[in-house]
Amino acid sequence: MRSVFFKSISFFLALFSLCLLSACVSVQPEFAAKDLERWTQDVLKGSFRDEKAVKVKILEQDASNAECSTSQATGLALSDQRKQEIEAQNLKTVQAPKDGQYFGDYKLGEALAQDGRGLTWSDAAGQSNGGQCYNCHQLSAQELSYGTLGPSLYQYGKTRGVADLGSDASKPVIQYTWAKLWNAKSFNACSAMPRYGHHGILNEGQIKHLMSLLLDPQSPVNR
Ligand code: HEC
Repeated sequence: MRSVFFKSISFFLALFSLCLLSACVSVQPEFAAKDLERWTQDVLKGSFRDEKAVKVKILEQDASNAECSTSQATGLALSDQRKQEIEAQNLKTVQAPKDGQYFGDYKLGEALAQDGRGLTWSDAAGQSNGGQCYNCHQLSAQELSYGTLGPSLYQYGKTRGVADLGSDASKPVIQYTWAKLWNAKSFNACSAMPRYGHHGILNEGQIKHLMSLLLDPQSPVNR
């Protein structure tokens, strides 16, 4: 009788510890990731200072960045609905060019795409920045050195529909490309592409030059 009693007690104890263990296993990743996020922020904030173009403020994430970082750190994917909400919020921030003119000069666009300077502690505050597009994309066929984090943009206009100065600005490809350059999260909630217009990395005029680089039929991207 006694041994049956002890057997069932130890069975329940074993069951209880198993439940406890599985609870720990299921709670731990989120708990640890949140802590890790906080510790990382503390270390970064503690060791950063304002220096020329770099401001400590850059460490403050907006809601969509924070959610994407947490999702990447925990491996817990955002729901499709949440992604759509983030994209809609970002799309709302896109500012159309004040003069209604979406294009500039593709040669200046190419120079910007090549230029990776800007926003480091050795750059003067307020200095204009490069676009560093080649760090992540192929663009013209002549440039052989490029990163592959983003898709190739070679023939971008040719495959989507080229457009130039006289084009109807309401064309979807013009609206999409402008919005993508202004705020890349408008179409991909957790995009790794810098949000050029939204964060003031590039100004309206510079984005116009990049629009020409991508869409002008004469641009090396489309030849
Ligand atoms: C840090 C990497 C990175 C940099 C720098 C970057 N991009 Fe991107 N870009 C991406 C990634 C990744 C994608 C694809 C995922 C997405 O849409 O966000 C993308 C997508 C795009 C698209 C949409 C492509 C399509 O098929 O619809 C365009 C257009 C684009 N980038 C243009 C540019 C231009 C112009 C620059 C420079 C001003 C630039 N990107 C700089 C990473 C980058």
